[in-house]
Amino acid sequence: MRSILQDLTPEFLKILNKDKIFWFDGWKEYKQTRPKIIREYEKLENLNENKVKERLNAIRRKDLDMFKQYWENNFLEIKKEMVMKLSRNAEYFQLKRGDFVVFIMGLLGLNSHYYIETYYGTVIVVDSFYHFLYKEDINKTIENSIINFIKNNPVNEKRALFGKVLSQIEKIIYDNNNINKVMEKIVKILYENIEYYNWVGFYLTDKNNKNMLKLGPYLGEPTEHINIPFGKGICGQAASTKNTFIVQDVTKESNYLSCSEKTKAEIVIPIIDKSGNVFGELDIDSHKLNPFTIEDTQFLEEIIDLFVKKFF
Ligand code: SME
Repeated sequence: MRSILQDLTPEFLKILNKDKIFWFDGWKEYKQTRPKIIREYEKLENLNENKVKERLNAIRRKDLDMFKQYWENNFLEIKKEMVMKLSRNAEYFQLKRGDFVVFIMGLLGLNSHYYIETYYGTVIVVDSFYHFLYKEDINKTIENSIINFIKNNPVNEKRALFGKVLSQIEKIIYDNNNINKVMEKIVKILYENIEYYNWVGFYLTDKNNKNMLKLGPYLGEPTEHINIPFGKGICGQAASTKNTFIVQDVTKESNYLSCSEKTKAEIVIPIIDKSGNVFGELDIDSHKLNPFTIEDTQFLEEIIDLFVKKFF
């Protein structure tokens, strides 16, 4: 069974290592562990910096200390119970569908749970601190929120697939230090797993000419476009604007370099290093018209984010 239940409460509780006047710094550090989720949480709760500070200020150290103790003494048991219940009823909870996960997180005790959309599906975020404060049964919340989610959302096949592929890619990036090997492997996984990704490759900025892209590792039909100047074609435009470039129908794009008659759509994600220079880009062609949705963009940008974090 994929691990659909994760507990991030201990990360939150690190805040207790700091003096109360520095809890907001602790919150910022905590935010680093799951930036997108916590940013979304703040949005959903309408929390700006001052409101977070106010709320942290209102929480008593004593309550957090007691929460920590409670969590350390009871969570394993709570989790065991939940995992057992979920796996015994895997079908009922539709665990195979793969487009949702549950994160138990220490948050500010404002609401019991939230639904947050990500590239790998919906994250059901359950506030453990809320359940401690109001003595509510966290496992009941988890159960009900999953049921509520599956009742209201048809399976998102794309996200389910992207979630699985992304975890393979994450592992490759984590395990390999050779940038070329990693690029080759990313190309292979994307090409083999996503049926409408019919040409997948990297273009890399030429070391001797900062305004030229050179073809890197790729899979798909050979292309005559080995060198592409910045600004030319979809690839060149993505490089010069430093933005993801999506063309759902290449016949409608005048600045386009054709590689294959079969290509109908293309998406290019630039790879920007820490100093803001274009290291290169990930280019994908599809034989399908209008194939790319927000899920593709988020998924591919996430891959590039991980790649940049590792190598730059
Ligand atoms: N179509 C691209 C050229 C590269 S190939 O798709 C592999 C473009 O317009 O830049």
